[in-house]
Amino acid sequence: MPNRHQQRGKQMPEPPKAEVYMMAFGPSPVSIQLNVNGQVQSVNCEPCRTLLQVLREKLGLTGAKQVCDRATCGACTVLVNGKRVYSCSILAIDAQDANIETVESLGQDGTLDTLQQAFVAADASQCGYCTPGFIMSATAFLTDNPSPTREDIRKGMCGNLCRCGTYAGIEEALLSMGKTPKPSTLAMKRGKRG
Ligand code: FES
Ligand code: FES
Repeated sequence: MPNRHQQRGKQMPEPPKAEVYMMAFGPSPVSIQLNVNGQVQSVNCEPCRTLLQVLREKLGLTGAKQVCDRATCGACTVLVNGKRVYSCSILAIDAQDANIETVESLGQDGTLDTLQQAFVAADASQCGYCTPGFIMSATAFLTDNPSPTREDIRKGMCGNLCRCGTYAGIEEALLSMGKTPKPSTLAMKRGKRG
């Protein structure tokens, strides 16, 4: 049976050549090493893979979420050398020499981290999709601002978005961390107060 192009008297387009595939999809997987949550792990991945893709798909660390995938929402936030980073927007291969911390590093022996507990107490989560990113962002924020004001929180946390609108709860959670300072497990591991 003639196909759509033949019915219209058109030539079938040529299938892409192998070199075109190479240009479109880049080089084959390479072995890289990532230091994630204190463990160095070897991963085979294409150089074009983002840190978020490798964390989720290769290492099974699905706490960081893929939402906008374009450095806008912060759902994918992890810490790289203690700084907040949108993991959807850096290549895994470029994170090889860094200390990467994900939300999975928080808490100990099945107990929530104090910051996670503060989120629960303040009812700072609805669907929860943004929450791991907020928690990691807040971990870094509180390390630099242990007793923030509401204004500090609004400015310092503006890189993370919540579609459910739980901002009031998140502010309360972070304010409570300042009022009753308790070290987060991550900060303790780093020898700092969070
Ligand atoms: S998924 Fe990375 S910033 Fe939104
Ligand atoms: S709790 Fe649903 S996106 Fe923030």
